[in-house]
Amino acid sequence: MTKEVKNLIELRAVAEGFLRDIASRPPQESATTVGLSGDLGAGKTAFVKCIAAALGITEVVTSPTFILEKVYIIPRNGVVGDRFLKLIHIDAYRLHSGDEMRALDWEAILADKTNLIFLEWPEQVVDAMPKDMTKLSFNYVSEGVRSITIEGVA
Ligand SMILES: Nc1ncnc2c1ncn2[C@@H]1O[C@H](COP(=O)(O)OP(=O)(O)OP(=O)(O)O)[C@@H](O)[C@H]1O
Ligand SMILES: [Mg+2]
Repeated sequence: MTKEVKNLIELRAVAEGFLRDIASRPPQESATTVGLSGDLGAGKTAFVKCIAAALGITEVVTSPTFILEKVYIIPRNGVVGDRFLKLIHIDAYRLHSGDEMRALDWEAILADKTNLIFLEWPEQVVDAMPKDMTKLSFNYVSEGVRSITIEGVA
């Protein structure tokens, strides 16, 4: 499914719909991982900011490009109930192989089913990505406009 998003309000609506979809999936044994693909400035971080807002996270979400990973506590009683307790935002742009994810204790992050992971630049660490990763692709259309493709959704 591809959606054109004309502004940040529409981006927020797509993020909310995506979260509802994720929360309605059958329970899983491990973390839920979402890979965000797309060029620099395509809107990957902007999308995670919308996800965080929709989850009720009030902390300011900034790009983890330089620090690799940021962890936010998800307030209970929100759209995802207590299915997910942590939002983990990773930017793998500076990494060159899945091996480098070990520094983050990646296996432990993946093993915890209450983790909701959004990872920018999954192609940099593709060998460390779980098989059940959901992939979203962001494309620049024009100033203010982006298209978002959600893989596996008609
Ligand atoms: N419709 C839109 N959807 C998403 N972002 C938009 C849109 N219109 C404008 N923008 C702006 O485009 C910029 C996207 O930057 P963002 O940091 O999200 O890119 P990114 O894909 O995370 O890039 P990087 O790979 O460098 O981390 C933001 O400043 C955002 O406000
Ligand atoms: Mg980014």
